[in-house]
Amino acid sequence: MDTLYPNILIFHSLIRWIISILFIVSIVRWYLKRNQTVKIELLDKRLINSFLIFVTIQLILGFELYFRSPLVNYFLTHFSEAIHLRQPRFFGMEHSSMMLTGIILVCVGIVKSKQKETPYKTLFIYYGFAFLIIFFSIPWEFSPLTSRPLWRWF
Ligand code: HEM
Repeated sequence: MDTLYPNILIFHSLIRWIISILFIVSIVRWYLKRNQTVKIELLDKRLINSFLIFVTIQLILGFELYFRSPLVNYFLTHFSEAIHLRQPRFFGMEHSSMMLTGIILVCVGIVKSKQKETPYKTLFIYYGFAFLIIFFSIPWEFSPLTSRPLWRWF
C-alpha cells in the first residue's frame, strides 16, 4: 500500500484553500487598482510571490498524485474504457490539463504586467481568467463534474 498517496492528497486538498484565498484577495485588490499607472507595490509583489510558491508546491504534489493515484493509473492503463468514465477522465485528463493552463496564464500575466503602464489591469485580467479555469477544475463537493470533500485531515 502506498502510504504517501493519502498524505499527499491531504496536502493537495488543503493547499486549494490557500490558492483560492490568494486568488480572491489579489483579484479584488487589482480590480480596485486597475487604472493606476504606478509600479507594483511591495504588498502586491508579496501576493504574487506567495501565489507562485503555493502554486509550485501544488503542481509538484499534483504530479506526485498523478503517478500514484489508482484512478489515474486505471485511466492510463484502460484508456479506451476509462475515457467514458467521469472520475478517471476528470483526474487523468481534465483536472491536470486545465490546472496547467491556469498556472501558465498566471505566469504570462505576471511577465506581461511588468511591461505595461497599467500593470494591475493586466494582472487582473490574467488572474481573472486563470481563476475561472482553476476554480471550475477543482473537484469541490458541490461540483457537477467530480465531487470530493471540502476538507481532508490526517
Ligand atoms: C492550482 C492547481 C491545483 C489545484 C487547486 C488542485 C486541487 C485539487 C483538489 C482539491 C483535489 C481533490 C483532493 C481530494 O480528494 O480531497 C485534487 C485531486 C487531484 N489532483 Fe489536483 N489540483 C491542482 C493541480 C493539479 C495538477 C497540476 C495535477 C497533475 C499534474 C493534479 C493532479 C491531481 C490528481 C491526480 C488528483 C486526484 C488523485 C486521486 O483522487 O487519486 N492536480 N486536486
